[in-house]
Amino acid sequence: MFKARITTPALLLALLVVTAPAQDTAPAASSQPGEQRKTSEPYKGDLSIFDTAGREERLQINRVMDLLGVAPGKTVADIGAGSGWFTVRAARRVGTAGVVFAVDINPEAIKHISERARKEQLQNVKTILSKADDPLLPANSVDAVLLLKTYHEVAQPEALLQKLRTALRPGSKVGVIDRNGNGEDHGVSREVVIREAKDAGYKLAQQFDFVKGDNMDYFLIFEARE
Ligand SMILES: C[S@@+](CC[C@H](N)C(=O)[O-])C[C@H]1O[C@@H](n2cnc3c(N)ncnc32)[C@H](O)[C@@H]1O
Repeated sequence: MFKARITTPALLLALLVVTAPAQDTAPAASSQPGEQRKTSEPYKGDLSIFDTAGREERLQINRVMDLLGVAPGKTVADIGAGSGWFTVRAARRVGTAGVVFAVDINPEAIKHISERARKEQLQNVKTILSKADDPLLPANSVDAVLLLKTYHEVAQPEALLQKLRTALRPGSKVGVIDRNGNGEDHGVSREVVIREAKDAGYKLAQQFDFVKGDNMDYFLIFEARE
């Protein structure tokens, strides 16, 4: 009778194959409950890339501000403000009776925006060097918030959104403009944002795709649930 000779290395290999944990093949955006989903590395590069010609039209930023209720006298938060591209536009619109909080975790961005506001004579801009899980906004202070191409970088989105709730005045709108992706490719799926916002105590009020047909960019508007 034929007897297979099992050598020690072959036995070890077989054991390894049998006991090795299964590869994590789940898509990055749909992490298991309690597991942190993958997010993109916060941007630390040249801030001038956000101030490109034609961006105003491409993003339809005036329409975005109309939908968020950014108007004279209002208080707005630009979370993940970067170079302050949105901050300065919102600051011109809210005028001297309004305020724009430019919030970012990157001290270089905060320094850049303070300098920019000074040069552009926008005294209504207030900068906040925030924490990854907390925008550090004053309680009951804002009427409208925008996270512009930032949500995919937020390492703890639900914690940040929960803490943001305390800063919202009644009727506040929270806008998220981002791009579909797997979390770590400078995008995050619209469904993930909606689910996380719901878990953090928000309801989806409106959603738009201004860049019709590209199936990538989206604009979501949330309100805090009662
Ligand atoms: C891709 S940039 C977008 C900048 C700007 N919103 C724009 O579109 O012109 C993302 C910015 O979000 C900031 N950021 C990342 N995570 C953040 C967080 N948890 N809280 C506040 N800012 C954050 C980064 O430092 C960076 O300046």
